[in-house]
Amino acid sequence: MNKKIKDILNKKDKSKLVCLTAYSKNIASILDNYCDIVLVGDSLGSVLYNYRSTKEVTLNTMINHSKSVRIGIKKSLMVVDMPYDTYRNPKEALKNAKLLIKKTKCDAVKLEGGTKILKIVKTLVKNKIPVMGHLGILPQTDKKFTFKGKKSFERNRILKEALLLEDAGIFSIVLECIEIELSKVITKKLSIPTIGIGSSANCDGQVLVTDDLIGLSESKLKFVKKYVNINKIVNSAVKRYKSEVLNKQFPKSKHSFKN
Ligand code: KIV
Repeated sequence: MNKKIKDILNKKDKSKLVCLTAYSKNIASILDNYCDIVLVGDSLGSVLYNYRSTKEVTLNTMINHSKSVRIGIKKSLMVVDMPYDTYRNPKEALKNAKLLIKKTKCDAVKLEGGTKILKIVKTLVKNKIPVMGHLGILPQTDKKFTFKGKKSFERNRILKEALLLEDAGIFSIVLECIEIELSKVITKKLSIPTIGIGSSANCDGQVLVTDDLIGLSESKLKFVKKYVNINKIVNSAVKRYKSEVLNKQFPKSKHSFKN
């Protein structure tokens, strides 16, 4: 087993896991100093490309961004989302996962879904491809993005699917916007780490979209905490640059070349 994955499994019940998204190398190299896992999420479809749904993200787009992220990562485990319609059956999933790994040198892939993807997960795992699961809100297929686990039938289904996915061989699972008690039960019942986004501190780790955390996006989601307002900082820098160019204060001779 990949040593990084072993380390992540060993942190269960010992230390929380830190995970964030990256879409390119500069951010990735900062995250690499602090994160156990860096995820190239297909959230890049809405965050970078303004797509209405992650369904529009292609395998090539994920490959290109992941290649850039790979340059920035030395220590963390790099996980890449398999886009919608790239894992409709075990054969297609295996072909595309192999291609993703070959082109990007990522450590693992992430797939959304429960019962429907069990055979696919088993096939990938059998072929030594580490898989991260994803339950709760499933952005690739859900129509409504409201939190999951309000009703007991839904809580039972999600718990059952988490157990089945563990059985199929996933090494960890993202739980997106599930009810607090449900995240507690799932985290307790699984022997692999749960990584929450909007799923409370009960999870073994947390993930956020980095653009939300640094205030680059305009996200107002309840579960997001903005740690810095990068938008404001960049605005003020660009405003000063504009003023200095207009007033001929930049560039100075020290920024210029002389024989
Ligand atoms: O696509 C993504 O960024 C994700 C995280 C939000 C978990 O799946």
